[in-house]
Amino acid sequence: MIHHRSAWRNRWTFMLATAGSAIGLGNIWKLPYMIGVNGGSAFVLVFIASILFVGIPLMMTEILLGRRAQRNPLNGMEFLAAEARVSPKWKLLGGMGMLTGLLILSFYSVIGGWVLSFIFDAASGTFTGIEAAQSTSNFKNLLASPFTLLFWHTVFMYLTMGVVARGVNSGLERANNILIPALFAILLILLGYSMSEGDMRSAFHFMFSFDFSKITPVAVLSALGHAFFSLSLGMGAVMVYGSYLQRNVSIARTTIYIALADTMLGLLVGLAIYSLVFANNLAPDAGPGLIFQTLPIAFGHMPAGRLIATLFFMLVAFAAWSSAISLVEPTIAWVVENTKISRKTSTSILGFAVWLLGVSVVLSFNEWQHIKVIFGLNIFETLDKLTSTILLPLGGLLMAIFAGYFMKKYHVQEELNLEDRGFKYWRIANNYIAPVAISAVFLYLFGLVK
Ligand code: PHE
Repeated sequence: MIHHRSAWRNRWTFMLATAGSAIGLGNIWKLPYMIGVNGGSAFVLVFIASILFVGIPLMMTEILLGRRAQRNPLNGMEFLAAEARVSPKWKLLGGMGMLTGLLILSFYSVIGGWVLSFIFDAASGTFTGIEAAQSTSNFKNLLASPFTLLFWHTVFMYLTMGVVARGVNSGLERANNILIPALFAILLILLGYSMSEGDMRSAFHFMFSFDFSKITPVAVLSALGHAFFSLSLGMGAVMVYGSYLQRNVSIARTTIYIALADTMLGLLVGLAIYSLVFANNLAPDAGPGLIFQTLPIAFGHMPAGRLIATLFFMLVAFAAWSSAISLVEPTIAWVVENTKISRKTSTSILGFAVWLLGVSVVLSFNEWQHIKVIFGLNIFETLDKLTSTILLPLGGLLMAIFAGYFMKKYHVQEELNLEDRGFKYWRIANNYIAPVAISAVFLYLFGLVK
């Protein structure tokens, strides 16, 4: 039952929206600290390779599935399975993706909340002259206060759902048209600042000296997993965005632009962060606290640090916000296309459900810290690991298999519309490289290969 379906106004707004989905906490919060804890340049190299050989082809796959289906992920997979004359059970893949998005949002929103609270901290001068001990306790205190976390988590959910409720054109499209250019403008300011005030040389050396001896299996695994997370692959966000895309747009070309923007932004932010960190003699391997504990110390001791810190956390917030909306859109599209419930009502209901799950994430940083779900992981860690190391790669693997081995080859070619050589590259990557790489990660994870 498809009534009127929305569509992006043009190729450009699709690119902004998909780049908006891709560029998020994954680039600015996770990637830099992962580079730090995984030994710097070796990790960067594997990450770039993962983007090129697995990320880009699979993003093309996900867009082509969405655009061909012209439906939400669940009905879309059902439609494509019927077209390929294979089991309708493939729709479960769409359903799994929708669920994955909601699980990610429940903790994404809590971290987004930290970022919002840091905008205010930065603007009010909390970091001015701050020393390491103070900065650590500032961050620890935030995590230890359920009510403060809850407040900001609620604000973040409200902002996210507010955009989604307005629909594709006046919500998603409009928000991304403002947020993404603003984000790049702030990035330029930040880069200029860290070039003049920071230690770019050391940062560059740290990230790009390509020391092969530092490549470990764990670094490879987390780099590949992070390529999925960073490009928003494997859960239907890109699929649903692709389903609003016009037929005449080249999937390969737009994908390359989006992936480049995402990767470049992550690496440039990494350079900016590390140049400030090194200029202040701080440690690069602080882990998740890198931008919340280490970076404020750097800002606190630099000229115009208060202004730049405020802009920096605004950049992070914009990036997180435009990603968060893509985590719910697949499910909302499904509700709107299958029921009589309006977009507004369904966003409120779904928003409340995800918010509630988020409350348990909030508590897992304080009151419920000691509650372990599996393998000694608390609620937040379980949701994070379950989604980024298992559900996203699994979703991506199944999408690649479906497009590569179940869909009719000429249907795929109709969507990709590539010349022979390009099509061959895509097929090799989609049918062999990506499935082998992802399966290797799974085998390793489940301890079959040590
Ligand atoms: N790509 C986003 C980021 O880097 C996270 C995300 C994952 C968004 C999956 C949508 C889907 O932060």
